[in-house]
Amino acid sequence: MDLERKRNAVIFGPMGPGLLRRPDTRVTERPGWYQLVTPSAPNGVLNEIAYSQVEDAERCIDDALATYGAHGLTFKWRVGPWTRPEDLAARLQRRGFEAFEMRGMVASTSHRIEVPGDVEIVTVDRECLDEYVRVFAAGWGLPRDQEAPLVADHLTALNAEDRVGHFFAARIDGAIVATTALVVRDGFGYLMGAQVLDAFRGRGVYRALIAARLRFLVERGLTMAATQAREATSAPMLEHLGFETVLRSKVFVIDAS
Ligand SMILES: CC(C)(COP(=O)(O)OP(=O)(O)OC[C@H]1O[C@@H](n2cnc3c(N)ncnc32)[C@H](O)[C@@H]1OP(=O)(O)O)[C@@H](O)C(=O)NCCC(=O)NCCS
Repeated sequence: MDLERKRNAVIFGPMGPGLLRRPDTRVTERPGWYQLVTPSAPNGVLNEIAYSQVEDAERCIDDALATYGAHGLTFKWRVGPWTRPEDLAARLQRRGFEAFEMRGMVASTSHRIEVPGDVEIVTVDRECLDEYVRVFAAGWGLPRDQEAPLVADHLTALNAEDRVGHFFAARIDGAIVATTALVVRDGFGYLMGAQVLDAFRGRGVYRALIAARLRFLVERGLTMAATQAREATSAPMLEHLGFETVLRSKVFVIDAS
């Protein structure tokens, strides 16, 4: 598989329809630009500029700060080898954004990963959605008042006519202890963020969530899994599990309120 295809899966996998959106999410998509604005979502969730190729960088930064600032929001700006101008990272840093390192990574879905025997992975349906969302919100540190809108957002994704979003939970002794998601794209799967509750880390739950999503993709004839992983958390783990790094990027964050 050629490098360009792998990189495109990493870059474009999280864009487009199908995963979590809110009724108030505004998507701005045009050549060289992909942006989400969601006034009701906290902590930078669904508020980001995922793709930017612009000539007037300073004006775009001013506009973004004003747009998110008007709603008192924190937002993210993803910067990688695709971004123009090439000095956008330095410009964002000068404007007070904080950065963390990311890696774009891929694996063949036929890659075998050993999983622990006491972890059960289930796909999320209406029946276990409330428990899933409780663990999702707790794990990501979201306030309790986000649970009801999160249930609604997940239901929209689950019931979508051309469904591409799938959610997975890990159970130990019957209780959900970890959550994650997967987007099925044309020819590949994109792995979304996973979190394991503190008390259950270090015993292979994340490994089991990766293995289950690879299996899910194999069963649908998809040969590649792609993701963007944080250097400080999951990137070294994914490398250890056999994923290949195909690009390096940064996420810049600022509280625009
Ligand atoms: C990141 C996270 C999901 C890991 O979950 P976990 O269930 O504790 O991970 P596992 O026990 O399955 O470990 C996965 C593998 O990575 C390995 N690993 C752990 N830290 C590592 C490191 N720094 N470098 C390389 N490998 C590492 C583990 O040894 C394990 O492999 P092994 O079982 O062959 O030994 C969990 O810490 C978490 O929820 N963090 C907060 C949310 C987050 O940051 N999510 C990831 C970004 S979206």
